[in-house]
Amino acid sequence: MCGIVGVIDSKDCQKIVFEGLKKLQYRGYDSAGICLKNDKGLHTYKTKGTIDSLIKKSPEIKDAYVAIGHTRWATHGEVSEKNAHPITSLNGEWAIVHNGIIENFEELKDNLVKEGHVFKTETDSEVIASLLSLKNFKNDVENLIWATKKLKGSYAFCAMKNDKERSIFIAKNKSPLYIYCKDNTSIVASDPICFPEGEYYKMEDLEFAQVSQSEVIFYNIKGEKIIKQPITNMAVMQDVSKNGYEHFMLKEIYETPEALQNLYTNLKDYDFSKIKKWWINKVKLIGCGTAFHSCLMGARFFKKFLKIDAEAITASEFRYDYEILDSTTLCIFVSQSGETADTIAAAEKAKKFTKKIISLTNVAHSTLASISSITLPISAGPEIAVASTKAYCCQVAALYLLANAFTEKRFDKALKKIKRLSNILERFYVNLGKFAFDIAGENSIFFIGRGADYVTALEGALKLKEISYINCNAFAAGELKHGVLTLIEKETPVIVIATDKKIIEKTMNSAFEAKARGAKLYLITALPPHLVNIEKFEMCLSLPNVDKDLICVLTTIPLQLLAYNVAVMKGNNPDMPRNLAKAVTVE
Ligand code: AGP
Ligand code: GLU
Repeated sequence: MCGIVGVIDSKDCQKIVFEGLKKLQYRGYDSAGICLKNDKGLHTYKTKGTIDSLIKKSPEIKDAYVAIGHTRWATHGEVSEKNAHPITSLNGEWAIVHNGIIENFEELKDNLVKEGHVFKTETDSEVIASLLSLKNFKNDVENLIWATKKLKGSYAFCAMKNDKERSIFIAKNKSPLYIYCKDNTSIVASDPICFPEGEYYKMEDLEFAQVSQSEVIFYNIKGEKIIKQPITNMAVMQDVSKNGYEHFMLKEIYETPEALQNLYTNLKDYDFSKIKKWWINKVKLIGCGTAFHSCLMGARFFKKFLKIDAEAITASEFRYDYEILDSTTLCIFVSQSGETADTIAAAEKAKKFTKKIISLTNVAHSTLASISSITLPISAGPEIAVASTKAYCCQVAALYLLANAFTEKRFDKALKKIKRLSNILERFYVNLGKFAFDIAGENSIFFIGRGADYVTALEGALKLKEISYINCNAFAAGELKHGVLTLIEKETPVIVIATDKKIIEKTMNSAFEAKARGAKLYLITALPPHLVNIEKFEMCLSLPNVDKDLICVLTTIPLQLLAYNVAVMKGNNPDMPRNLAKAVTVE
């Protein structure tokens, strides 16, 4: 699920590719590469690691006029310089960068090996370069289409030939690809955020193009020329800086009150009339990772406020499982990026059964937004760190508003509560400082809670494992005795989330059962000390009093800070955890 860029420009090819790749690192950052063409031929530079290391490694080639670049998140073949893209064909005639997975690559590779091809990488992508170099059609576009027809799976790729032509050949199926062409500069990229303001083209599945310096010629799979209309670029990326913070993650945690305020402003006059007219029998909320956790929270809101059957499902399960859907099912898809492949595929599946599709996303021009009937902005602002923080809080708050949007009176009250939450949060940070427990040296940590606190426990555990690399697991407190207690040893840390007065004794019972077996307990609560037996805990964080349905937003913040501080203590980069990417654009 990498990011690809291709540029045709007489002056700044290399620079434009690097700038584009930097913006695309949210799609993967385990290795990177660039291939530049000048009159002497193709020059390829690759590295393990980020774009900054690629920039250091690549000499400046001022007379380059075509270049393609890649930032990788490996799917096939280990993370290594050898497997990084661009990949050149054995005869050196073609260089390609690919985003996606070629599902029939083994079969293609076997056949190519039989024809004498030797493979230099372990990637699935290399078959594209090999196929392109196989035939000698008069016309390169014919070659492109012939080779692409052999591929099964998902792909967006840019190919350039080792000749003196100022052209790039591109093809797309399922993975995104966009083209900008103006003032003697053409740019092809996985995301229009790489383009200057102005118009651009969106490639559709099984479309092809030859992109030259001042012209783009589009083709369909039959090789016929097609005309495409440009769209206006709304996606220009604001320059996002760390604003004095050491990492984006910390800055983004601190931006939550402002983000909630923006959500309030954007939704306060939102016209929900279309949604209110829908006859709905049940609600499915679908997302991945942190977004799935906000779906779990959202399902609770729908059940509580609308007394309707609501269920959260991870997108990767929803897309292949037995889901009972019909035209009365409301499907809500939650995704910060709007580009998560599983969530998009799940939305495509849902669309076959119901038109009642709402997406909640942070990126208005995203693929998910484009396939939904209604898109609600989560309004979190750019989130750069891989670990989702302010976006989670906004997703939960947006779902809270949506579940309350069906009656005006409720919605007005809900809005006021979001505003109040944002104000309280601002003051809350002052008391938190460098909040952390002394757990950086642990191998295994448990989080427990009941009801909404269980969902917060899941999110807290995900955040901590994601950037500290400690094995963290969350359980419904009542489940400990059904198996998990075997894992509790002397001094095993158990973080208890307890904000619900109605079931506090029950949560405490579970915590003390763990303590009786040696666990060290830490507590995050909004309840008064006499209800929670503070003396039994190593440490207790008391939260300010906010609305009981929204306390879950507040509870999450110390857990985000805990994850951040532990990651920093361990010397990890919280913004770019190993093996992950911000947007997971492959299955
Ligand atoms: C969150 O901290 C994770 N990086 C991850 O679970 C993420 O929430 C998930 O991949 C979904 O991303 P999306 O919201 O962009 O769809
Ligand atoms: N499958 C290719 C590789 O492993 C591209 C990866 C991707 O798009 O994520 O290199």
